[in-house]
Amino acid sequence: MMSCQAWPEPVVRVQSLAESGISSIPSRYIRPQSQRPSNATTFAPHDHKPSQTDQGHYGHHDHDHVNIPIIDLENLFEEDQILRKEVLRRVDEACREWGFFQVVNHGVSHELMKSGRELWREFFNQPLEVKETYANSPTTYEGYGSRLGVQKGATLDWSDYFFLHYMPSSLRNQAKWPAFPPYIRKVIAEYGEEVVKLGGRMLEVMSTNLGLKEDFLLNAFGGESEVGACLRVNFYPKCPQPDLTLGLSPHSDPGGMTILLPDEFVSGLQVRRGDEWITVKPVPNAFIINIGDQIQVLSNAIYKSVEHRVIVNSNQDRVSLAMFYNPRSDLLIQPAKELVTEERPALYSPMTYDEYRLYIRLNGPCGKAQVESLASQT
Ligand code: OGA
Ligand code: NI
Repeated sequence: MMSCQAWPEPVVRVQSLAESGISSIPSRYIRPQSQRPSNATTFAPHDHKPSQTDQGHYGHHDHDHVNIPIIDLENLFEEDQILRKEVLRRVDEACREWGFFQVVNHGVSHELMKSGRELWREFFNQPLEVKETYANSPTTYEGYGSRLGVQKGATLDWSDYFFLHYMPSSLRNQAKWPAFPPYIRKVIAEYGEEVVKLGGRMLEVMSTNLGLKEDFLLNAFGGESEVGACLRVNFYPKCPQPDLTLGLSPHSDPGGMTILLPDEFVSGLQVRRGDEWITVKPVPNAFIINIGDQIQVLSNAIYKSVEHRVIVNSNQDRVSLAMFYNPRSDLLIQPAKELVTEERPALYSPMTYDEYRLYIRLNGPCGKAQVESLASQT
């Protein structure tokens, strides 16, 4: 299998660049006109007047924002089957219509969410030399990084990140996790446990909603002890020319499902909806959940991964914690046979997640090009 040992050119830390006081960004970060945030069709609040049914169907609409659906999970954990079914129905609708939604009352401790965010902010605010001791390589991506993909001369994104393995426990190596600030390892471990538990529940909900056995998706991912979970903490420094660049290029998440803890104060995540990019307005203490390419494949495209990107701004840094919930990397992932019929044949050929993610590891984020290239030619 082809893989890559080193970055093709010296790595520049975006945070150092931002803190150096430059007033214009290096050309490597400047995107062609058509890919700049200001040039894309963004949602124009006054041109769009959704009907009543639109509002019900497509989620929350307030004065100046269309937002992705917000779902209260409280009743998921209740005995009352009628209330529980209503939550399931809302999740199903969000998965089919949006591929992206926010959840509140999800069972993860708010305290833990807050300390997770704060400790990671402190990590990124340490001196560069300390962070460099965790510098990553494109072989595993574990550690402190500043780019995705190894194409020499590629346009770069305005962000740094830290990537680590949480599950399976055989890949969990605390020695590769930050040792400072104090407690960060403990908080990562506790946060990981709760978020992975939430992920397991969401897989049960999605399996049930797809008409499959409750444990179908978890088993397809390799079962509780073999499922993959990786944390990527994104740091988007403030940027002197935010209209010329992106914090993260358009992509769909290659794995199964992502549970994102966004910055509580600074927005930046945009989700593609037709030709528009909708800026997600985070709700306090919520997680943002989105469908990844592997669930698109397993569900035979009943659920689809959705393209998203991140914009930056000139006033504030932004931190987000993305937990990627993935299949065990050596299992073949293919459409569930229950979802393959004569009218709806299998849309994708089988592939392991190991093979699948190699593409993004080499090429970096590429919209939805990869999952679309997997569509079988039948
Ligand atoms: C990601 C991602 C969004 C964000 O890490 O894959 O889409 O808001 N992050 O940081
Ligand atoms: Ni993403």
